[in-house]
Amino acid sequence: MKKRIALFDSGFGGLSVLQSICERHSNFSAIYLADTARVPYGSKSPSEIRGIAFEIVKWLEFQEIDAIVVACNTTNSLALDIIKDFSNVPVFDLIDASQQLIKESRLGVLATVSTVCSRAYTNKIKSFNKSAFVVEEACPEFVPFIESGQLNENLIREIASFHLGKLFQNDIDAIILGCSHFPLIRPIFNELVPSHIRIIDPAIGLAISLDSLLGHLDCSLYSSKVPFDIRFCVTSDSQRFSSGISQWMRINPKVDIISLRSRSCVF
Ligand code: DGL
Repeated sequence: MKKRIALFDSGFGGLSVLQSICERHSNFSAIYLADTARVPYGSKSPSEIRGIAFEIVKWLEFQEIDAIVVACNTTNSLALDIIKDFSNVPVFDLIDASQQLIKESRLGVLATVSTVCSRAYTNKIKSFNKSAFVVEEACPEFVPFIESGQLNENLIREIASFHLGKLFQNDIDAIILGCSHFPLIRPIFNELVPSHIRIIDPAIGLAISLDSLLGHLDCSLYSSKVPFDIRFCVTSDSQRFSSGISQWMRINPKVDIISLRSRSCVF
């Protein structure tokens, strides 16, 4: 029997996580939930994000899944405890999974404002490397650009140069893409980051962590195809999301609108 995993994010960002999973695994089905009615998460308060995480995990309880993949660093940073406490299936998250990829001791993190304020990446890195130096840089501009589909490359390049410049002042050896939206504009980072600085995408670690659930065969056997058995759900604007999926993943699936609000709780 194929395992069924559930990924969730505020919008398109989790598609970069889904891509990484598809590059390593083929034998699974999935449900992808994008909370498009409330994107971006990165500027929301910790209690709002924790409330949203609770609603999502409660909704997922009825979706017949074998695992939850937290494909959003912001909820990962601020509400992983809630997701784990209320889930009755294993939870896989980006921040824990990033550990196996991090070898350097001087690191920069690019993430949303909420993720940076939570210091979740710094705390994680310090938990296995006390002497590590970590500098976190909030980049609030990229998610709205990516969600709007208005990818003005020159403007994004200019903004990326500004944020990267702040990291470069700190003599770092690696940069973590600490928001799942950012790998979607990876070519711009590849262009601007000098080759001696490694770019780390935590989704690669997450795909490896899923070996324990999905098994792992020789990668050369895979064609990184997106499984046909994937249900896409959004909380608003299914048409916009559907065209975004074809832009980012070159597939044209049906997108369902669902409601999460009925299961809210205040944290
Ligand atoms: N893609 C999510 C993350 O990894 C959320 C971004 C947002 O909605 O601001 O943080």
